[in-house]
Amino acid sequence: MTDPILQIDAVSKRFTRSPGVLLKGLDRLTGRDSSQTVHAVTDVSLSVPRGEVLGIVGESGCGKSTLGRIVSGIYTPSAGKVTLDGDPVARDSRGNVDKLTTRVQMIHQDPFASLNPRMKVGEIIAEGPRIHGLIPAKDVQSKVRALLEQVGLEGAYANRLPHQFSGGQRQRVAIARALAMQPELLVLDEAVASLDVSIQAQVLNLFMDLRKQLDLTALFISHDLSVVRHVCDRVAIMYLGRVVETAPANQLYEKPLHPYTSALFGSVPTLGTGRARFQPIKGEIPSPINPPKGCAFHPRCPLAGPRCRVEVPRVVNASSERSVACHIQDGGTGAENEAAA
Ligand SMILES: Nc1ncnc2c1ncn2[C@@H]1O[C@H](COP(=O)(O)OP(=O)(O)OP(=O)(O)O)[C@@H](O)[C@H]1O
Ligand code: SF4
Ligand SMILES: [Mg+2]
Repeated sequence: MTDPILQIDAVSKRFTRSPGVLLKGLDRLTGRDSSQTVHAVTDVSLSVPRGEVLGIVGESGCGKSTLGRIVSGIYTPSAGKVTLDGDPVARDSRGNVDKLTTRVQMIHQDPFASLNPRMKVGEIIAEGPRIHGLIPAKDVQSKVRALLEQVGLEGAYANRLPHQFSGGQRQRVAIARALAMQPELLVLDEAVASLDVSIQAQVLNLFMDLRKQLDLTALFISHDLSVVRHVCDRVAIMYLGRVVETAPANQLYEKPLHPYTSALFGSVPTLGTGRARFQPIKGEIPSPINPPKGCAFHPRCPLAGPRCRVEVPRVVNASSERSVACHIQDGGTGAENEAAA
């Protein structure tokens, strides 16, 4: 494996959720503190080699976007650190995103919300490079045209406003804006989720072409398991803030090792139905405010044993390319002993 460009080391993120006005008032009277801690990301370690597209998959609320925002320098982790080519991704003392983090560009689900409606797309694309002095002023226009063409749009579209584009075209503009920063890493957060299926395929094909041309490294966050299989080299499965399994995509889809991954894959419709999102798994997703003790998946896991209820499973290497956090892969769950007793 080549040296990782992105290294995520034991990263956690906690949010404090303030109580409503009423509870706040009561707190003042009683001296209590009703604020709650959200365990959005817990002890995540991942390395991404240059040129790899790593999928991040898991149910809603499991911490995918939070992790993406930490990697992009938008959130500061509560613990752990993220480095890009050995340099820390961080904010400066005033809270501004460090210049370094221009090397990571994020592409969001809703291109309409992420593009300033009053700016021409040429200005939108040129804004970042101009601020950071990446392109000499005299070359900006030609660079913008070249970028628009690179994402399959006409150079003359630079004079249009975002509302004059379709959803798929707007997402192409968002990709052009990200590429204009000459990023070393892209974070795509549900980047095609808001598009029609046929348009999704076009934007994904564009992304596949660009990754080959530019040797892009990317985190590809998605609910859509068939898209992830198509686009990603490797996949990390998240559950309630933790990464529970990582594996090359083909191996993961052939033989998932973690019971949660198996449950997710058990409900993947076939590619081409246009509805390839996984169905909810039996049981409620526990609250990240008060995650279950031991293995967070134990209340929903058909294989849970006594050990699972008290001990957080450590991440073990299942092979040179795979890791999994489940007691079954690390000495057993304790159910064997219970059955024998
Ligand atoms: N700024 C914030 N303040 C408080 N809680 C937050 C904040 N951002 C995220 N959370 C909480 O952190 C948890 C993880 O959220 P996150 O958005 O990372 O999940 P996700 O996996 O991206 O979900 P989805 O698939 O729905 O986009 C959720 O419980 C969410 O409510
Ligand atoms: S550690 Fe136990 S509860 Fe968690 S996934 Fe493995 S078997 Fe299931
Ligand atoms: Mg999200």
